[in-house]
Amino acid sequence: MTLRILSGIQSSGKPHLGNYFGAMQQHVQLQDIEDADPFYFIADYHAMTTVQDPEKMREFSRDVALDYLASGLDPDKATFFRQSSIPEVTELAWMLCAVTGMGLLERAHSYKDKVAKGIKPSVGLFYYPVLMAADILIYKSHQVPVGQDQVQHIEMTQDMAEYFNNTYHTEVFVRPEARMGTAPKVLGTDGAKMSKSYGNTIDLSMTGKPLKKVVMSIKTDSKGVEEPKDPETCNVFALYRLLASESEQAELADRYRAGGMGYGDSKKLVLEKIEDYFQPYREKRAELLDNLDYVESVLTKGATRAREIATQTVDEAKKAAGLL
Ligand code: ADP
Ligand code: TRP
Repeated sequence: MTLRILSGIQSSGKPHLGNYFGAMQQHVQLQDIEDADPFYFIADYHAMTTVQDPEKMREFSRDVALDYLASGLDPDKATFFRQSSIPEVTELAWMLCAVTGMGLLERAHSYKDKVAKGIKPSVGLFYYPVLMAADILIYKSHQVPVGQDQVQHIEMTQDMAEYFNNTYHTEVFVRPEARMGTAPKVLGTDGAKMSKSYGNTIDLSMTGKPLKKVVMSIKTDSKGVEEPKDPETCNVFALYRLLASESEQAELADRYRAGGMGYGDSKKLVLEKIEDYFQPYREKRAELLDNLDYVESVLTKGATRAREIATQTVDEAKKAAGLL
């Protein structure tokens, strides 16, 4: 049986280390699973809830495309497209919201968190989990590789699939499962979840001075150089863990505990690791930037394939609901 894997990244800013270690790294690894048929997309309809400048929308959408391809997404192994190339998802979202109770959406953490952070509470932001459910269900996805913050949305998708199937006595929709990688919650420079909406990111494309500035701004406690420090509670160490080998991690943890090392030193180590780790990625990204026609052709081809499947599922749902 084919394993349909699906995930999306919003074009709401430049992809960052949280997106990479929480989601994109898994996406690329999963391309090589036997029988996998992965679908990855740029969630631009979703980004409309926060990005309302058309120039920015185009720029961020291009950034996500470049970052995905530069990180190893292989268009011969994965279907890659823009969400908005598949207008059928909005049609399916309507069919799903008609059978979904308000209470389900009212419980969404991500809506409450975003509003608490000052994002305008539009109807779209509230309805967002329904559109996400449509993204997942329209391709009959089995597994959805995401970071921890998205797990509740996938549970809501399971509920919506069940409501629809039960209401219309059908089995159109497949129950999807969340799949988390080794870093389901990467922390940002302020110690909260790294997120494009929170201004605490380290972007994948950063290098040189801007990267140095942001790494040096990572929040730590105020322990002096000589004092022993706890690697387990340190934001700098948490990032080092994502980038360094086990022996390197053990060595730095010993230096933390021994005292005599300031946070400035561990930040420098993280900085070097980020520069090295993402060097090949930055080179590939620069090549792609010179070849935007190729990037566009990948997205167009992906959209054609995705749309064929989406149209079939919407037809099945319409039949089940008596619309056809
Ligand atoms: P953002 O919160 O920055 O807007 P997205 O919502 O577009 O990011 O997230 C895209 C993917 O990256 C999702 O699968 C999400 O779970 C994952 N992700 C985002 N931030 C993090 C993080 N800090 N740690 C782990 N995974 C993350
Ligand atoms: N809501 C996701 C996020 O903010 C992006 C997304 C939209 C998504 N549709 C999806 C992720 C479907 C997985 C599956 O990260």
